[in-house]
This record gives sequence, structure tokens and C-alpha cells, in this order.
Amino acid sequence: MKLPADTVVRLRPAYEGRNVCVTGGAGFIGGHLVDTLLALGAAITVIDDLSNSTVTHLAELIDLEPDRVRFVQGSILDDDALAEAVEGCRTVFHLAALGSVPQSVAEPQRNWSVNATGTVRVLEHARRVRAARVVFAASSSAYGDDPTVPKLESMLPRPMSPYAASKLAGEAVMLAWAKSYGLSTISLRFFNIFGPRQSADSAYAAVIAAFAKALLQGEPPVVFGDGRQSRDFTNVANAVFAMLLAGMSDKPLAGEVVNVGTGRRVNLLELAEMMAQIVAKDSSAAGDIAAPQVVFKPERAGDVKHSLADLTRARDLIGYTPLVPIEKGLEETMAWYRQSLAGTGRA
Ligand SMILES: NC(=O)c1ccc[n+]([C@@H]2O[C@H](COP(=O)([O-])OP(=O)(O)OC[C@H]3O[C@@H](n4cnc5c(N)ncnc54)[C@H](O)[C@@H]3O)[C@@H](O)[C@H]2O)c1
Repeated sequence: MKLPADTVVRLRPAYEGRNVCVTGGAGFIGGHLVDTLLALGAAITVIDDLSNSTVTHLAELIDLEPDRVRFVQGSILDDDALAEAVEGCRTVFHLAALGSVPQSVAEPQRNWSVNATGTVRVLEHARRVRAARVVFAASSSAYGDDPTVPKLESMLPRPMSPYAASKLAGEAVMLAWAKSYGLSTISLRFFNIFGPRQSADSAYAAVIAAFAKALLQGEPPVVFGDGRQSRDFTNVANAVFAMLLAGMSDKPLAGEVVNVGTGRRVNLLELAEMMAQIVAKDSSAAGDIAAPQVVFKPERAGDVKHSLADLTRARDLIGYTPLVPIEKGLEETMAWYRQSLAGTGRA
């Protein structure tokens, strides 16, 4: 994932030589953020306990730029590790979390302690080192099952899973620490982020990762529910762009909540078809492409029906508009899964 050259020119002055901390930087979105921060000239410290990631990608970056990437292997619940990671950082991008809705339903207390208590810990350390900005990876799951679309940040949140509740708590503490201690914070509500390096191997894999793996292995994608549920699938480049804009904004941010999506929604059956078409095109399959066979399974607890971001606030507050549309993002993502499965049998 690379940002367009003109975007890099625009962002570089804010990040060149800047010390930043990325919690959860060994993970999927965090890894892409670290890549881009490196390209922008920042010095980055990552803290990650590797509970849902490996050090592989980060180790490659450290090999390339040993003076500009530092890794603290540890939990955001461990004060010593967090103190070491945040020391000297001007900007903190807080992404460390347990990100799976079904896993949060299975293990609600563990989810709460990492996602909610862990966010308080990160804020306390950011406050101690007088960080200029904390950018929090919040979630569109906060909107819950209110059928109204698009989702506006002014709508009443309705968290339907322990995960959604814990991320909403994260937003609340971002606001509270801004109001109580003058820390500059912002929460970005991400809408279904996808892209290369998102894990497809877990039972909790995100839908695009799971569909990609199934389709590339010639298996039918599994759809939970009737497949008519829709999402604002957002390429990871857009999420990274929004985080960087939020991190550099010279507005006096104080806990604002901002949607980050694309403003377009696609249902799961349409998604499976779009992805099957890419597979067929790449395999040079002849003839019309039939809709892929999917396997239906019962709807999962905590899943919401429709999701679509209104982007007015994102545009007005941080100047965000999406850079990469779903089609382009899917092409790039499928190419990565194809290569990864060919190389290792894993994605
Ligand atoms: N992927 C999405 O669609 C999406 C949507 C909305 C919000 N988000 C949020 O974005 C952030 C990143 O998500 P992702 O998709 O990259 O997930 P991810 O699981 O790939 O990344 C999270 C990282 O946090 C690490 N981590 C977990 N617990 C930790 C702890 N106690 N201490 C230190 N590190 C810990 C994991 O090992 C992992 O590397 C998360 O906060 C998630 O809630 C993601």
C-alpha cells in the first residue's frame, strides 16, 4: 500500500523527524501505518504483545531502518513496557486492541481489559510524556443495529457486542482525558477496513480476508446470515490517510469522534461476486462469470445489518476524503492473498 505522491508531499512536513508511538503496530492496520510513517521520515516505536500478529513484517522494517523503528514487545496493560514505548513520543496512534466481535462475545472480560482499560493506560502514559496528540482507532460497531444509514456521528450509539462497548468506552475516555487534562485526542470510527496482510487464518477472520482465502482455494465463501447485510468496506490506505491527517491537524482537537469509511456500501453477496470476478479474471477464465456459490450459516450474535459512513465531519474536521475505492483495493488485496497463499499456503 502506497499513498499517492502528492499526498506524501502534503504529509511529509508534519512527520519528518517526528517521534511517534504506534500501539498495535505489528497488526494489520498498524503495520500499514508504520510503513507509511517510515516513508514520511518519522521515527517510530511500536508496542505490541503479538497476541494477534507476528513480528515478521516489523522485523523487515527494523532491518531496513534500524535507527527509525523500535519495537517494544509487551502489553499495553504492562506499565513498564508502555512507559518505554511512549517515552519521547509526540504523537500516539492507539490501535492495540482485541478486534474480533465473536471473540469478544466469547471472552468479554478479556476484551474489556485490553480495549477499555488498556486505552486508559495509553492515555495516562501519553499525558505523562505530554504528547501533542493521541489518535484512537475507534469502530463503526458503536452504531449497532439502528437501521438508519448513512451513520452520522451525532446518532446515539447502540453497542451490540462487548467489542463495540469496549471501543465506545475508548471514545469516552479520549473525550474525558481531553476535557480533564487538556490532552489533544481524536477517535476515528473505522468502517470495515481491509487490505493486504489482514489475517485470513483465524476463525474470527474479517469477511474480505475469509472470502479471499476461500475463493483462491476454490472453495465457496461462508456467509453468516442471508448475505444481504451491507458494509462500507474501506481499504486500509484510507484508514492510514485519515490517521495521518488526524495526527497532524492543527485544530485544537478534544475527543471528537469522526467516521472513516468510503461513503459507499456493498452487500456480502455483491462482495463475493466482485471478488470472484477478480479471481476469474486473474485466472484468465473464459466466458461469463457465474455468481459464486456461497455457503450460508446462521447469523452471528453481535453482527449488525447495515453500515455506511457519512463523511461530512471527516472532511470538515481533518480534510479526509477516501483515496482508494473498493474495486482498486480489492484487486490489490486479492493479488496479495494469491501471492501469499502460493508462497506459504497461509494468508
Ligand atoms: N480491521 C477493521 O476493520 C477495524 C474496524 C474498526 C476498528 N478497528 C480497530 O483498529 C485497530 C487495529 O485493528 P486491526 O484490524 O489492525 O487488528 P489487529 O488484530 O491486526 O491489530 C491489533 C494489534 O494489537 C495487538 N494487541 C492486542 N492486544 C494487545 C495488548 N494487550 N497489548 C499490545 N498489543 C496488543 C495485536 O497483537 C495486534 O497486533 C483495533 O483497535 C481495532 O479495534 C479495526
